[in-house]
Amino acid sequence: MNILIVGSGGREHALAWKISQSPKVKKIFCAPGNGGIAQIAECVDIASDDIAGLAQFAQKHSIDLTIVGPEAPLAAGIVDEFQSKGLKVFGPNRLAAQLEGSKVFAKEFMHRHGIPTASFMSFDSISEAREFLQETQFPLVIKADGLASGKGVFVCYTIDEALNGLKEIEEHMAEAGKRILVEECLRGEEASILAISDGERYVVLESSQDHKRIFDDDLGPNTGGMGAYSPAPVVNDLMLAKIETQIIEPVIRGMVMDKMPFQGVLYAGLMITDEGPMVLEFNARFGDPETQAVLPRLKTDLLEVILAACERRIDQVDLEWDRRACVCVVMSAGGYPGSYEKGMVIHGLEKAAASGDGIVFHAGTKRHGGAVVTSGGRVLGVTALGEGIEGAIANAYKIVDMIRFDHCFFRRDIGAKALKRIEQKTI
Ligand code: AMP
Ligand code: GLY
Repeated sequence: MNILIVGSGGREHALAWKISQSPKVKKIFCAPGNGGIAQIAECVDIASDDIAGLAQFAQKHSIDLTIVGPEAPLAAGIVDEFQSKGLKVFGPNRLAAQLEGSKVFAKEFMHRHGIPTASFMSFDSISEAREFLQETQFPLVIKADGLASGKGVFVCYTIDEALNGLKEIEEHMAEAGKRILVEECLRGEEASILAISDGERYVVLESSQDHKRIFDDDLGPNTGGMGAYSPAPVVNDLMLAKIETQIIEPVIRGMVMDKMPFQGVLYAGLMITDEGPMVLEFNARFGDPETQAVLPRLKTDLLEVILAACERRIDQVDLEWDRRACVCVVMSAGGYPGSYEKGMVIHGLEKAAASGDGIVFHAGTKRHGGAVVTSGGRVLGVTALGEGIEGAIANAYKIVDMIRFDHCFFRRDIGAKALKRIEQKTI
């Protein structure tokens, strides 16, 4: 099969890496791809939101299956466009992708179908939200309704923080912030559960946990994700059963009832609270960097799983997992998530590859002359399996220490929360 992967991050590198192991694959293309993906796929210079350009490419190059990584093309209807041209594509259509594309839609959906989530109010303008804040209690969470690359959420302990959050949305997220959500602030530990659905049924992938803040101990501003580990000990068997029966299953069923069946990856961002699992957000795609930590543990052929989802026979799929743990440490450009430099030469990639202990997924890199240079904020996702979280952490950081580029920054505590939980036996 000829496969087209849409996107250019660490998630897409992990997808290309995993898909390339399938005996069914003839050739993988990636649009636009990055410096690492270029080693296993042909990178094509088409932007991930150029839907017409991508469809034209897929027709011209006899693409048998397109896998969409990022949210923007899904929300813009890439699946509808491909399907209207008879092209096979994996991901939710425009209507179903609203689960991620509009937080108000997702909240109203959850309310309608009795899915546990923080209580909320929605407002049609910043000024209405501002007025409400004057007479309410803190803490609370303010969210822009639309897609904002993770930057549209503000956990606020005071009215000043809340007003600043609204100002940020007003000034920088005009489109996403047309509607505003104000939510109850939940307490607990976060986890991500990804399910692959064929529209009616689903399989659940192993749990994972992202590290959203830039600094160790979850300090500093939110980022796209500074690392992840899988499995997440906070999701024990009992909790997973609750997540399936209270959240995943009702979402898939609810989307059928609402006449917009969800085919693709349903990503539930959860808070595990004393009262049980609660939904923080849905994404309509593979998580980044969760995918980098989950896929190395998947023994089953991912292409077969995705084909089963596209062909509405996911019930025939049985996922097999490596019992080892996996940790992904993101190496970023100094300054990220604020401004940062690009074009720094990355050293040590050959040594890291030769060590054979892990996989270096590229995110913001490109090839320049004979070198690999940085081209984004999140540069690499250094990923390793190991015996337990402790072993995976040790293996991942051993590789991190082989790699360097100017102003490189990474967290030293990826996985530490899982270790603490295991040590305290609070699972
Ligand atoms: P989201 O993009 O909606 O997942 O939000 C980003 C981050 O904000 C989450 O990973 C949580 O850390 C935090 N967050 C979002 N909603 C809530 C909430 N209702 N209560 C507490 N924290 C939240
Ligand atoms: N890791 C968070 C996300 O993919 O949105």
